[in-house]
Amino acid sequence: MLVPLKPVLDAARKGGYAQGAFNVNAVCQAKAVIEAHETLRSAAILQGADLANAFMGGRADFANGTVKDKIAGAKNIGDAVKKYGEDSPIPVVLHLDHGRDMESVKAAIAGGYTSVMIDGSSLPFEENIELTREVVKYAHPRGVSVEGELGVLAGVEDHVFAASSTYTNPLSAVDFVRKTKVDALAISYGTMHGPSKGKDVKLRREIPIAVRECLAHEGLDCALVSHGSSTVPRYIVDEINELGGNIQNAYGISLTELKAAIPAGINKINIDTDIRLAVTRNMRELFAKRPELQKSESIGGVYKLLLEHPENPDPRAFLPPVFD
Ligand code: G3H
Ligand code: 13P
Ligand code: NA
Ligand code: ZN
Repeated sequence: MLVPLKPVLDAARKGGYAQGAFNVNAVCQAKAVIEAHETLRSAAILQGADLANAFMGGRADFANGTVKDKIAGAKNIGDAVKKYGEDSPIPVVLHLDHGRDMESVKAAIAGGYTSVMIDGSSLPFEENIELTREVVKYAHPRGVSVEGELGVLAGVEDHVFAASSTYTNPLSAVDFVRKTKVDALAISYGTMHGPSKGKDVKLRREIPIAVRECLAHEGLDCALVSHGSSTVPRYIVDEINELGGNIQNAYGISLTELKAAIPAGINKINIDTDIRLAVTRNMRELFAKRPELQKSESIGGVYKLLLEHPENPDPRAFLPPVFD
């Protein structure tokens, strides 16, 4: 069944565990993510980043999506999640990742998203509060949960690039949660988006601990979210490079660090890069086996070539690589 984010994270908080939240960058990934969670008998959180919505709406260049592309993409992924998730025995959430403005939020909700993130973390504090409140006012009456963000993660984050991080201030977090009434809060405590997070990153666990304690002291409650949490498996990076790729300086967050963040108060762990790496490896493997496919310059062209040859692997199993 399709549900908002809040009940899923409430259960995680009560049970003292965290839910993985997995980015889908193409519609065909919805089925895979839902089936994997059904096997594990776990609730599933699928998330489409704001610009991924544009891509899933048919826009070939990820970066320049218009609102029209986003509306089409939200509907495409929304329909797929309904198709595979509505009759599923597990709770399924479709969550907008790093929504940039009201238009993105409205497009996502119109397409069937049950939860939205509004990322005002690059705005001045008061403006972030104002934008997030506006989103909560729109989303909550529609039964849609809201995630906000406070603090800046270093690295590439959809539409935002930050050279260095600013950790979340626990007292500002209290103020933010009280004024916005968000259901979940993304914090900055040492994680980072993308495949180059730095060697042996140690997470600042005292930050979620302090945020939790400060919230509890004020009688407030809100689930905490860890973005930029991919583990960047060495063997996948090696396989990509053996297949002609050139990914340097690839380091993720270790499983040990992620596991230790859960008792510190983290209830949602976002993963995008790890899946993109697997997709990149699969694309390179396919091109190595069928070099004729490389003649096509666009992803759409590759799909077309694959479809023209019925003996080829199902093109929907392959997704566009984004970096590499
Ligand atoms: O938040 C948007 C995307 O998840 C950023 O992904 O850092 O894996 O490129 P990336
Ligand atoms: P990674 O780049 O570590 O996968 O982070 C994903 C994320 O935070 C999506 O919002
Ligand atoms: Na941010
Ligand atoms: Zn993120």
